Amino acid sequence: MKNKSLISINDYTKEEILRVLDLAGDFEKNPSQILLADKVIATLFFEPSTRTRLSFESAVNRLGGKIIGFSDTASSSSTKGETLKDTIKTVSNYSDLIIMRHPIEGSARYASEVASVPVVNAGDGANQHPTQTLLDLYSIQKTQGSLENLNLFIVGDLKYGRTVHSLLMAMALFRATYYFISPPELKIPQEYKLFLDQHGLKYYELSDFKESISEADILYVTRIQKERFSDPIEYEKTKNAYVLRNKMLQNTRSNLRILHPLPRVSEIDTDVDDNEKAYYFTQALNGVYTRQAILSLILGLKN
Ligand code: CP
Repeated sequence: MKNKSLISINDYTKEEILRVLDLAGDFEKNPSQILLADKVIATLFFEPSTRTRLSFESAVNRLGGKIIGFSDTASSSSTKGETLKDTIKTVSNYSDLIIMRHPIEGSARYASEVASVPVVNAGDGANQHPTQTLLDLYSIQKTQGSLENLNLFIVGDLKYGRTVHSLLMAMALFRATYYFISPPELKIPQEYKLFLDQHGLKYYELSDFKESISEADILYVTRIQKERFSDPIEYEKTKNAYVLRNKMLQNTRSNLRILHPLPRVSEIDTDVDDNEKAYYFTQALNGVYTRQAILSLILGLKN
């Protein structure tokens, strides 16, 4: 993993993923370890973020490193017409590692090809969000005791949800059974179904989860991704397609945990928050430990 960019979850083997999760567990027990004292980490966010940027920045601070970067395209020279290539080449000279979020699919891979330091993809359009997936896997392993052979229910925007695409691919390594619940307009794209077919994995596409929720180990709820719609009327049609309410969690498995990459809009009612099966805020906390592990491994400070 040393000096290797992390662009897609497929860049890591199962063994590498398990190493990240193991190390994240160590950081959870001992979060303040001065490993990055002479390191500068750049965070280039061309799209808004709360959790990804701030948990990375918290991780760097807890490891004793320094942060540079921008959280808004408007404050960067890309508004003057600078190309992504020139921005990345410049920031490579200022930092030891670049964390980038960008609205264009494939932009992170491109950045890794022109950078002279490792690049970590913090989300590229509707494509991939691999560090979110690593924290999701950490959360699943922690709450279920294992990642193997789970019933994974994924609800919401399966077309544009990049966290869904990364998670689906990672959970294939652990022989998950998938239940996809979405409005017809936001179904899981064909390429991901093909991927699951090629891996011989079972999946079901449902229009609702009320009947089958009693089978779920993990209920992964996602927001309808408003920013990806070209037609606002289409967004209005689907935005309230699913709302999880506390009363719907009767007759669910005792091990069920509800995950959400956040931000939440209306898809999980706040009356779920106090249910012991609601795990999404702890999941976001797990992002700090997981990102500490990712940074330490890429920078060769742990192996
Ligand atoms: N889960 C996630 O990517 O959240 P942010 O958009 O707040 O970073």
